[in-house]
Amino acid sequence: MNSSRSLNILGIESSCDETSVAILLNENVKANLISSQHFHKLYGGVVPELSSRAHLQIIKPLLDSALKLSGLKMRDIDLITATAGPGLIGALLVGLTFAKGLAFSLNKPFIPVNHIEGHIFSGFLMDQKPEFPMLVLVVSGGHTLLLYAEDYTKIYKLGTTVDDAAGEAFDKVSKMLGFGYPGGPQIEASASKGNDSVIKFPIADLKEKYNFSFSGLKTSVLRHIQKFHPDRKISESDLNNISASFQKALTDALIKNVMLALNNLKVNSFSLAGGVAANKRLRNDLKAVVDKMKIPFIVPSIEYCTDNAAMIALRGFQLYQSGFRSSLSVNPYPSIPENHFLRLT
Ligand code: KG4
Ligand code: ZN
Repeated sequence: MNSSRSLNILGIESSCDETSVAILLNENVKANLISSQHFHKLYGGVVPELSSRAHLQIIKPLLDSALKLSGLKMRDIDLITATAGPGLIGALLVGLTFAKGLAFSLNKPFIPVNHIEGHIFSGFLMDQKPEFPMLVLVVSGGHTLLLYAEDYTKIYKLGTTVDDAAGEAFDKVSKMLGFGYPGGPQIEASASKGNDSVIKFPIADLKEKYNFSFSGLKTSVLRHIQKFHPDRKISESDLNNISASFQKALTDALIKNVMLALNNLKVNSFSLAGGVAANKRLRNDLKAVVDKMKIPFIVPSIEYCTDNAAMIALRGFQLYQSGFRSSLSVNPYPSIPENHFLRLT
């Protein structure tokens, strides 16, 4: 990246059930405000239409608060960025249109950002920056990706999930156990009181060595419940043991592929990202593996693991500094365009 004058960057994120507005001065976060739509819990998952409406209501007040917190006016903003996809189309439309409107009316440059790229490079929000080439594991509600990043614009996909994403598996198992949505934090809390060696849940063995599969694991949990708790009355200690054993199996499956990649590829750092990266068991176990390779283990603080606009602003800034420019005619996209990661340049 070229290092010309400092830039105030506005980031906007609205891909799912978090509305977030951030302001960065280059890579330094001045404000990162997140409004979570907790009411989706009532429905057991995100309701797209309700999500769009909630984004619409909160986005302007969030922008005002972020500007106030940073001591800036809109005219001080040099670059406007927003998530363009992947995500819920109606939700994306709110943030993207709002950001494009600001860029148009204030005549500021605009950069659309891929949400997953935001997660991939979120480690750069920390004081200790990742070093290229880096291995990155992105584990969120919608994605499970193992990636090799040569630099800011050359990112190669090594593996992905063939069925459920890691976060999705947490959410589905959580539902089976009666915990509700989002599942990760609740399973983690229950697992911390359980014994992870009581039940042996299986890890998938796939032909494509870096790929992941979690639907078999999810089905095994269901079969276990059907067999041992047919009336669905599960004691707290049994719930805790199921949570702990499930969390261990899922963590082990992720670590298996990371170890394989670390042994096969020469990398100078490892970065963990995405909502599931908030899981302490995963963070600790992965750190132990990466430490053995004597390379830095980078994981963002929790507020930058789950969906946030700071990572969007940062990624927009990296692209802008790398020479990327965009018109205002970009539209939101629900899923990652084919081969998007196999060379971004
Ligand atoms: O990245 P994210 O905030 O949104 C997406 O882009 O998907 O990830 C949300 C996912 C949810 O599936 C949630 O259950 C999971 O991250 N998650 C966790 C934890 N906190 C959030 N999974 C495991 N342990 C956690 N502590
Ligand atoms: Zn995300």
